[in-house]
Amino acid sequence: MCSTALADGPWEFDAKEPGYGPGASMWDVLPSDAPRQGSLPREYREASKAELDSRILAAKAELGERLVILGHFYQRDEVVKYADFVGDSFQLAQATKTRPQAEAIVFCGVHFMAETAEMLSGPEQRVILPNLAAGCSMADMADLDSVLDCWEQLEEVYGKEPDAQGRVPVIPVTYMNSSAALKGFCGERGGIVCTSSNASAVLKWAFERGQRVLFFPDQHLGRNTGKAMGVPLEQMPMWNPNKELGGSDAQTLRDARVLLWHGFCSVHKRFTVGQIKAARERYAGVRVIVHPECPMEVVDAADESGSTDYIRRAIESTTEPTVFAIGTEINLVQRLANENPQHTIFCLDSIVCPCSTMYRIHPGYLAWVLEALVRGEVLNRITVPEQVATHARVALERMLSVLPPAVKASPAKLGPA
Ligand code: 13P
Ligand code: SF4
Repeated sequence: MCSTALADGPWEFDAKEPGYGPGASMWDVLPSDAPRQGSLPREYREASKAELDSRILAAKAELGERLVILGHFYQRDEVVKYADFVGDSFQLAQATKTRPQAEAIVFCGVHFMAETAEMLSGPEQRVILPNLAAGCSMADMADLDSVLDCWEQLEEVYGKEPDAQGRVPVIPVTYMNSSAALKGFCGERGGIVCTSSNASAVLKWAFERGQRVLFFPDQHLGRNTGKAMGVPLEQMPMWNPNKELGGSDAQTLRDARVLLWHGFCSVHKRFTVGQIKAARERYAGVRVIVHPECPMEVVDAADESGSTDYIRRAIESTTEPTVFAIGTEINLVQRLANENPQHTIFCLDSIVCPCSTMYRIHPGYLAWVLEALVRGEVLNRITVPEQVATHARVALERMLSVLPPAVKASPAKLGPA
């Protein structure tokens, strides 16, 4: 996973393994007629940076208000610079709704984000993922069949009846990093979607309605959030989808408040307590901020944890020159370091670890889909079957109604383009 080999020519990987990349799910299986990435036309593979730049800018200018480009913070700078909005997952979901006049939303992020944009955008709008192989390996760690199987087993243990306060036995909560099918699963069963920026507000929402929560796919975000809310670790057992009763026993499940799916992010899993100790030894007074997808010991050893936008705001709102050690994806850390030269900012992991699926979006793909739009062709359109989207929208709208405090103040950061 940790390689910068994708940086210059991600198409070399697409050519070897055509089709969706990790995290690319639609009904959690690849339908035979689903679009596949295939190889990028040679003219885009061989174009120089300067040529791609002028072609992208020309296509953007030609499309004007008919186009909006959304970019996640982890995108490389060569892509972020074209985005109209740059933000974390929550902000980008919100931003989807801010340009109803745009015919095309080009999403420079990963597949689950584009799927979400598709479900939240208007019926006439087209959502495009420049490289269909840009997925998320964590999102792939929970599939609909395994979650349905888990739900059946939980119903056998808990029954279906609410308690005296009217709370149902269990509320499903899916992290944004999941397929549309799982968002639909939650919407249909009184559940909700969360992002790293509103996870504790969402758990509070869920505990008002249920006795416990089934949280998937990221065990770390679930555990870190539950722990910060005072849920004891022994009441947050892991659900291993390959084991009967998830590897627990019925009594443990009955005592549980948060059931944690056995998923993780391979980028954030790399951060360790040892790295934090080393940073503290090297810089007295260093401020350590990590993403809540990091393991619990790492979050506990850090000074703060929060979403990608939390990290950005924490740095940008600090006026005194400060040393920051950051535990998240390198593109964001490097950009924050460049944009805030008054501070010393570095990544906790010295072996640079980019999100290799985010890296699949290269300016070559962006130029390719934008020039097609100018010709009136929609390439790499993301679609979600309506029977899935109907329920998934319910869970997403619930998510959007549970605002993280900071988002109230700043809906999405306007990009530099
Ligand atoms: P944010 O919502 O914090 O941007 O996180 C998305 C993500 O995939 C982090 O790995
Ligand atoms: Fe998925 Fe991790 Fe990449 Fe985020 S950083 S998109 S969780 S693989």
